[in-house]
Amino acid sequence: MSDIKKIKEEFINKLKQDLDLNSVNQIKTDLFGKNGKISNEFKKLGSIAVEERKKFASELNSIKDEIQTAISKKIQDLEIIEINSKLQNEKIDVTLPERSFNQGKIHPVSQVIDEISSIFSEIGFNVEEGPDVENEYNNFTALNTPDNHPARDMHDTFYLDNNKEYLLRTHTSPVQVRTMLKGKPPFKIIAPGRTYRSDSDQTHSPMFHQVEGLHIDKNINMGHLKGCLNYFIKEFFEVNKIKMRFRPSHFPFTEPSAEVDIGYKIKDGKIIIGEGDKWLEILGCGMVHPNVLKNVKVDPSKYQGYAFGIGIDRLAMLKYGINDLRSFFETDYRWLNHFGFDPLDVPSSYRGLSR
Ligand code: PHE
Repeated sequence: MSDIKKIKEEFINKLKQDLDLNSVNQIKTDLFGKNGKISNEFKKLGSIAVEERKKFASELNSIKDEIQTAISKKIQDLEIIEINSKLQNEKIDVTLPERSFNQGKIHPVSQVIDEISSIFSEIGFNVEEGPDVENEYNNFTALNTPDNHPARDMHDTFYLDNNKEYLLRTHTSPVQVRTMLKGKPPFKIIAPGRTYRSDSDQTHSPMFHQVEGLHIDKNINMGHLKGCLNYFIKEFFEVNKIKMRFRPSHFPFTEPSAEVDIGYKIKDGKIIIGEGDKWLEILGCGMVHPNVLKNVKVDPSKYQGYAFGIGIDRLAMLKYGINDLRSFFETDYRWLNHFGFDPLDVPSSYRGLSR
């Protein structure tokens, strides 16, 4: 028997054995690899007499084709067997109980900050941020606060050093200063964030949240302020009508200044915003004082505008019926599970339902 017939014979016998994918691949290398038996037969071609060569070559080629086809088929068969056995063994048991996992909740304050930002951004306000640790200048002096103003008092303000140079900001108004110092008018921004005062009872916490608003341009007047706040309150509480009153007040950084109350009533133990004859104070505001504009290098003879500061926690308490401010910051999971929001909860004000 010729060498190649022997090779084929051997191969046919091997193929009858119980083979796995690896051993078939090994057989393939033994035959067709660099020093494989079939490869070596091809190398012999050159040294065979010309008259023999053609016959040998055609015999060799047909055996090669036969073997290759047989190998491919074997590999295919083995792969199918493997897939079937995987399907059999790796079957998913859909009746197993699912693995439990904890999903977090969005804190009502974060939720309300998102809602506020979304409402104001629809009428062209950008969102700015400032640091919790401020210097005395941005928090008081630039905002036209006299040296002897009671707000500077140690009892109200958390100072971080004896020189009273650094402090925890007592309101978000320093972000007005930062914004105007770093840019050029017009300005139309809101700035939500944490604020700090030495105060603690059912409606006051030493750390609380405000959102500052500032709109400075060439022809801004108090009518714009009223319109803007009216729009905001209606959107926020998702009501079509709102009772709102401006009470004269005083802030060193606005002139004139006002505090804004909204009308409400209690019905069946629930608070109803926008009607009734009770009043609730929710924010301070006014026309930005010319001295503040001068301090931040804005010419008050060309530009003017309004500012406001809203207590965020109080808005959250009102909208979501939470009656103790301190519970916001006690990090009690049961409380958060009850009052918190699922990440995909979309308040109707986002969807524009109230419009
Ligand atoms: N900063 C004031 C406060 O904390 C609120 C305010 C902001 C008033 C802007 C007028 C203008 O009470």
